[in-house]
Amino acid sequence: MEDGRAQVELAAQMIAGSTHCVALTGAGISTESGLPDFRSPGTGLWEGVDPVTELSAAALRSDPERFYRLFLGMRRMAGALPNRAHEVLARLEHEGLLHSVITQNIDGLHRRAGSRLVLEVHGNLATGSCLDCRRSLPMSELLEQVDDGVVPPRCRQCGEVVRPDVVLFGDPLPECFAAARAESARADVMLVIGTSLTVWPVAGLPALARSLIIVNLEDTPYDHQAAARIRDRAGVALAAIAERLSGWRLTGQTRGG
Ligand code: APR
Ligand code: ZN
Repeated sequence: MEDGRAQVELAAQMIAGSTHCVALTGAGISTESGLPDFRSPGTGLWEGVDPVTELSAAALRSDPERFYRLFLGMRRMAGALPNRAHEVLARLEHEGLLHSVITQNIDGLHRRAGSRLVLEVHGNLATGSCLDCRRSLPMSELLEQVDDGVVPPRCRQCGEVVRPDVVLFGDPLPECFAAARAESARADVMLVIGTSLTVWPVAGLPALARSLIIVNLEDTPYDHQAAARIRDRAGVALAAIAERLSGWRLTGQTRGG
């Protein structure tokens, strides 16, 4: 059996035999939904942009116009649809083979695919909030203002600048990060999909799990620790793992392959 198929077989066995499987995803799981990731050479959103200084909470305060011009590169997320990889993770959760999804993505595609326990450790694009009175508003309202030339968008209550409810560089992590850390420490199998694992503290989570399956097109710092390593597109790899698992179910084979 060639190596790619052997790695899929191993990954399926690890998931089938797991007691607490957790997925950790990044922008690479959404590229097949038409959304660019951040660091892929030539196509990443951060090509020519230094997000740490230009898309930080400080940049929003000091130069809100530039911040919003850069940020709007992400607005296409609003129209994106989940792809096969998102759908397989939702199905694995419904079938009791996956306990939770920890995602760095702000596109909301895991929930739209039907995943229920989703820990969005970098927030999501659904809402924005006022820097002063903290009033919350839907992203659609924020984008309407921007489309009407109101950049940066402002709070209708107090007139202060409004920010998207995503975790910006320099922000504290949301409360759900503690749950993500606990889930990672409980995981006997962590299925890492579509992330360069270069942004801390999320990049520290795989070290807490007992064993790793990594599905990623490029190398990651954890490749040498992974029990299974699938270098393929997330949609192809997850569909192949799901097919293997359903093949066992059809033959009545118990979990654990
Ligand atoms: N299938 C599998 N892997 C893919 C695919 C795909 N279809 N498309 C891209 N990849 C891989 C790339 O090779 C890359 O290693 O996904 C990885 C995406 O890495 P990044 O672009 O660094 O995205 P991510 O790891 O999610 O970034 C983490 O950085 O800027 C912050 O807040 C931002 O949440 C983001 C964080
Ligand atoms: Zn306000």
